[in-house]
Amino acid sequence: MVVTFLVFLLSLGGCTENKTDDIKKPEQARSLKRAFADDFYVGAAINARLISEEDSLALQLLRKEFNSISPENDMKWENIHPAPDSFYFDIADRYAALAEDNNMFALGHTLVWHSQLADYMNTVSDTATMNVYLENHISTIVQRYKGKIDAWDVVNEALNEDGTLRESVFFKVLGEKYIAKAFKLAAQSDSDAKLLYNDYNLCVPEKRGGAVRLVKTLQNEGIKIDGVGMQGHWGLKEPSLAEIENSILAYSDLGVKVSITELDITVLPNPWDLEGAEVGQNFENEDRMNPYPDVLPDSVQLQLAQRYHDIFQLFVKHSDKIDRVTFWGINDGNSWLNNWPIRGRTNYPLLFDRKFHPKEAYDSILSLISEN
Ligand code: G3I
Repeated sequence: MVVTFLVFLLSLGGCTENKTDDIKKPEQARSLKRAFADDFYVGAAINARLISEEDSLALQLLRKEFNSISPENDMKWENIHPAPDSFYFDIADRYAALAEDNNMFALGHTLVWHSQLADYMNTVSDTATMNVYLENHISTIVQRYKGKIDAWDVVNEALNEDGTLRESVFFKVLGEKYIAKAFKLAAQSDSDAKLLYNDYNLCVPEKRGGAVRLVKTLQNEGIKIDGVGMQGHWGLKEPSLAEIENSILAYSDLGVKVSITELDITVLPNPWDLEGAEVGQNFENEDRMNPYPDVLPDSVQLQLAQRYHDIFQLFVKHSDKIDRVTFWGINDGNSWLNNWPIRGRTNYPLLFDRKFHPKEAYDSILSLISEN
């Protein structure tokens, strides 16, 4: 398999073999959703412009390559429920219609999250008010999209890095039972929807331990939870394949399905990895933190391709445990990683470049299918 991939890498760059291949397999036959149809859904997070069909190239690519979508921002609390008695459903309705029209598996992201929360939620301090707000939020939204949204990130990022529960406003007011309450409300509102716990760094052993405890607590109380979403904001080297595999196995052993929900691979330096205390603002204007402002060097392009290849090889190996693999964005140009953790950098974390052309990483993933 390694040899096949090396041959594939050598063939990059439009040599005759590649062109012959293209003739044998028309472009329309090359598609992520087709390639992995027997393995898992392949999804992409989409922004409001795409949902509103204002980005025709992105929409075209979405329809060709993906069979699942996630709303990058438009179903988050501050957007969909900006005031206690006011919901804003326009974009979410279009999102649900887009999924329906194109026969795509639709995720609802996300019901309960401490971030991108409406301002009024951050000032809630009594149990009664919190219960009313939570019930209204979850029941209204999940019932509205019953039969249209296939799965919900019910609770997002409830864990600290050491596996303890984050002191969010939900936790401060209701204690840890807010998680059970959210899952119960979602299940009551749509008993067919898949219900997920979603978080980042779920491959780190301490945090993984916390997620396992969270799932077990719900299961012991007889509360429906169908899956764990490992976000997958990863790097070229970290986390190791072993930690990713251990995590897929740990969650799957609980009897729930795994989804990779927000996959992207940064190729840029991470300010927190640098030694010294002056982390943060000082890095913003430093060229060394934005080393590829114009083009990604071939050497890094190939590292990215190899990393995606290895990760997908693992996903295919465990496809019986994995429901869905979703990329967090359509192309490099619209990735949140151009603005985080430092604004205004040029990152290359996805499978399609800024002109919507497939990158080597795309071919490296599809090569897995011909390897099998
Ligand atoms: O909508 C405003 C716009 O009006 C304003 O002009 C502009 C100026 O900066 O900001 C716009 O809001 C931005 C919003 O994305 C929509 O583009 C926010 O500043 C920006 O912070 C926000 O970032 C989002 C981030 O979540 C917020 O936490 C990213 O797009 C989104 O990709 C990211 O997604 C999260 C997942 O939901 C959960 N897991 C982590 C993941 C990455 O952070």
